[in-house]
Amino acid sequence: MVLQDSSNTSVLLDFDAIKNLTSAESAAVDQLILNELSSDVVLINQIGHYIISNGGKRLRPLLLLLTTKALGETKDAHLILAAVIEFIHTATLLHDDVVDESDLRRGQESANAVWGNAASVLVGDYLYSSAFEMMVRTHNMRVMEVLSKTTTAIAEGEVLQLLNCNNPETTEEKYLEVIARKTAILFSAATRLAAIISETNQATEQALAAYGQHLGIAFQLIDDALDYKSSSEALGKNLGDDLAEGKPTLPLIYAISKGSPEQAQVVIDAIRHGSRDSFAQVYEVIKTTQAIEYTEQQAQQQAQLAIDALACLDDSIYKQALTLLATFSVQRTH
Ligand code: IPE
Ligand code: IPE
Ligand code: MG
Ligand code: MG
Repeated sequence: MVLQDSSNTSVLLDFDAIKNLTSAESAAVDQLILNELSSDVVLINQIGHYIISNGGKRLRPLLLLLTTKALGETKDAHLILAAVIEFIHTATLLHDDVVDESDLRRGQESANAVWGNAASVLVGDYLYSSAFEMMVRTHNMRVMEVLSKTTTAIAEGEVLQLLNCNNPETTEEKYLEVIARKTAILFSAATRLAAIISETNQATEQALAAYGQHLGIAFQLIDDALDYKSSSEALGKNLGDDLAEGKPTLPLIYAISKGSPEQAQVVIDAIRHGSRDSFAQVYEVIKTTQAIEYTEQQAQQQAQLAIDALACLDDSIYKQALTLLATFSVQRTH
């Protein structure tokens, strides 16, 4: 993909090239993360390093850092908050794999598969608490307000989703409410926090928060499509986890609404019983109703809304990178 930078020179950008735009800042964030993981409680060190050091796209800190650079100078508080956001994200993953009974994460056995549920939940709690300890170092009440509201909303999203599980009557609207809270709000917090520390005006802060929110929704929509159409090698997670849990994600909701009564019944039964056994039959209905295509179109629309929101920024290579990330989030295969 060819991008123009502000001096009108063409440069090639892919995900790694975008990451290179913030390489110095990202290295500083990684250092903060490593420092914070050192505890004299051995299991915290072990699990913390296992999940954080072994991969993960680091997308949310990247969004925070690119937004920061699009706005101007990077301050220490930006770096701290990038680490905070990744800690919160990782804590949600530790808890999520217990709740979802997932045994593969980031291409390796999940922490719950290796150390068990109790250890994963408790180390997830440690990461949450550590994140809040770091956040306080910014001495900024707005930051604390945004982050505490964010973690509350994530918890609400996960509980709402639990209530929808095994319920084939879950509507597209209810599904969107879940993903807005469980996923998009953290993306939105990342871009909003960059704006708060950079002391932008209110309109710019709102627009950047909207960028994060739309991008997060697009990202989760694609994640839910990939749970049916990717491969576990590419994804680093097991396929069909959502079906095994009876999770009514958009591909299933749409397949029920567009399939014949017989086809709809296959999906309804699968959601009710929550099992991987009917994956092949359900996948057939998803294919004939073009439910993946529909889910991707919805993600595409959200990505476009995210890109539109970037109109608040002056042109720069960082703004272009943020634009591209919205496109990549929809095109991604893992
Ligand atoms: C996984 O997020 C959880 C979702 C919101 C779908 P990522 O795909 O960003 O996970 P890592 O950090 O790269 O492993
Ligand atoms: C990710 O949700 C966890 C949160 C956003 C809190 P999912 O359960 O949909 O994501 P994966 O597929 O396990 O990464
Ligand atoms: Mg989940
Ligand atoms: Mg999960």
